[in-house]
Amino acid sequence: MTDALNILMRWLHISSVVVSIGGILYARLVVAPSIASMPAEQQETLGVAMAARYRGLLYLAMLFLLASGTYNIFMNLGRGPLYHAFLGIKLLLVLHVFAVGFLIVKPKNPKRARMMTGMLISGVIIIAISAVLRQLHI
Ligand code: HEM
Repeated sequence: MTDALNILMRWLHISSVVVSIGGILYARLVVAPSIASMPAEQQETLGVAMAARYRGLLYLAMLFLLASGTYNIFMNLGRGPLYHAFLGIKLLLVLHVFAVGFLIVKPKNPKRARMMTGMLISGVIIIAISAVLRQLHI
């Protein structure tokens, strides 16, 4: 039973990372440069429409990350000081990703592209730290 729950939570955690960080990667590195030559007004209209479409998905991904991440913490209690130091750094970066996540899907945000860059950098570092956390199991 615990095995099934572990698998479900792991799937939820990884799928939510894909939706949140993968979505921002596509928006920042593929969509933004592709529409850069359009008139500013059209870019703005497209930005508002894309933010509205992505909002629900991102909120859901953040909710699932919070739930599955909390579950993960309880399943990994007592792994030692180094583990908890890395976990602490990860959680600070997660705060950054979540805060920016709320801001980039707001309808009007002239700094959206720059914020997405920051979110992407934090996201990639979080994924690396998570790989370290896993390695610290033994
Ligand atoms: C409140 C938010 C979060 C909490 C509490 C949390 C907590 C955790 C914990 C405790 C683990 C287990 C580490 C281990 O194997 O010992 C984990 C795994 C992981 N987390 Fe998070 N996390 C959160 C959000 C995020 C975010 C935003 C990302 C990506 C940007 C992320 C990426 C990952 C990855 C890639 C793994 C490895 C999955 C695996 O090997 O099964 N996490 N998380």
